Amino acid sequence: MGDEPLVLGIETSCDETGVGLVRGTTLLADTVASSVDEHARFGGVVPEVASRAHLEAMVPTIERACAEAGVRLDDVTAIAVTSGPGLTGALLVGVAAAKALSIALATPLYGVNHLAAHVAVDQLEHGPLPQPCIALLVSGGHSSLLLVEDVTSRVIPLGATIDDAAGEAFDKVARLLGMPFPGGPHIDSSARDGEPAYVDFPRGLTSGRDLQRHRFDFSFSGLKTAVARWVEARERDGEPVPVADVAASFQEAVCDVLTRKAVDACRSHGLDTLLIGGGVAANSRLRAMAQERAAAAKLRVRVPRPALCTDNGAMVAALGAELVARCREPSELDLPADSSMPVTTVVA
Ligand code: KG4
Ligand code: ZN
Repeated sequence: MGDEPLVLGIETSCDETGVGLVRGTTLLADTVASSVDEHARFGGVVPEVASRAHLEAMVPTIERACAEAGVRLDDVTAIAVTSGPGLTGALLVGVAAAKALSIALATPLYGVNHLAAHVAVDQLEHGPLPQPCIALLVSGGHSSLLLVEDVTSRVIPLGATIDDAAGEAFDKVARLLGMPFPGGPHIDSSARDGEPAYVDFPRGLTSGRDLQRHRFDFSFSGLKTAVARWVEARERDGEPVPVADVAASFQEAVCDVLTRKAVDACRSHGLDTLLIGGGVAANSRLRAMAQERAAAAKLRVRVPRPALCTDNGAMVAALGAELVARCREPSELDLPADSSMPVTTVVA
């Protein structure tokens, strides 16, 4: 095992400075420093604040990861870093650090796609991923359905959100229900005491021409507005807002659309494995509904544990390790930080 490549993964696309160490397919360390508290009062991630936080956290986070793994930096045989998509300034910090380390340690460097990394991480927990498979990636920054033919080289986008990301909708609705940022976990726990059928909120792009034109796309901004209108009407009438019921009904609408379209994608491509990743994959109702619907359609669902669903360095190291194992070409040292890197580009 000591002979297997030791890959360092660096993730800085949003507000988490993530550093992971993977040897072969074994996770040795997954260290995350989050600047989420610094963004809370703004109700969303402030790019400039995130970049500065990455700069301060980078070296200490790398040191913590090495200590956790019981390795030294010069044991590292390859480096992987998120090249995009994400916030430009935030990505730049990780990419610059990775380039410096790659030169200092004389190791190959892989600039990788953040979405492909969200897919690859599951292999650390559940073993080799059957490919092709369908991946549903849902977070504060992205909501995509992907056809993963080969996570190291061929990832095909089937659909994505045409407005808000799923996590963004959770965060905005949480805010209007008076919950702190990030709101997803608060909606999740509040919804446990609520009635999911209390309000029949709209399911975007699920019927008629919308569905035909956007079969695998998502839209959550109409749902967010519907919740806002419903709450406003209650307040106007001087009636109390049943927060848990609204949270449960909103969550039900999001999970219904996500799982319905994900199962449809599996069926229409004749695939039996659905992988779910991204921060929203931590949602308890999404997990339960995905399992129920997948079982009914004879599909298998794979969801990494919550710490591997949210942004982290282990996912980048996992993809890097897979690229090394498959003898893929590393990136050039002039690799960019590409805020809108397409998912079809796995390595920059
Ligand atoms: O993947 P992530 O850590 O960062 C990116 O946005 O890329 O995802 C964070 C998002 C936030 O919008 C947060 O509210 C949401 O994931 N989230 C959840 C839950 N836990 C985190 N949404 C719903 N239910 C949860 N339990
Ligand atoms: Zn992410």
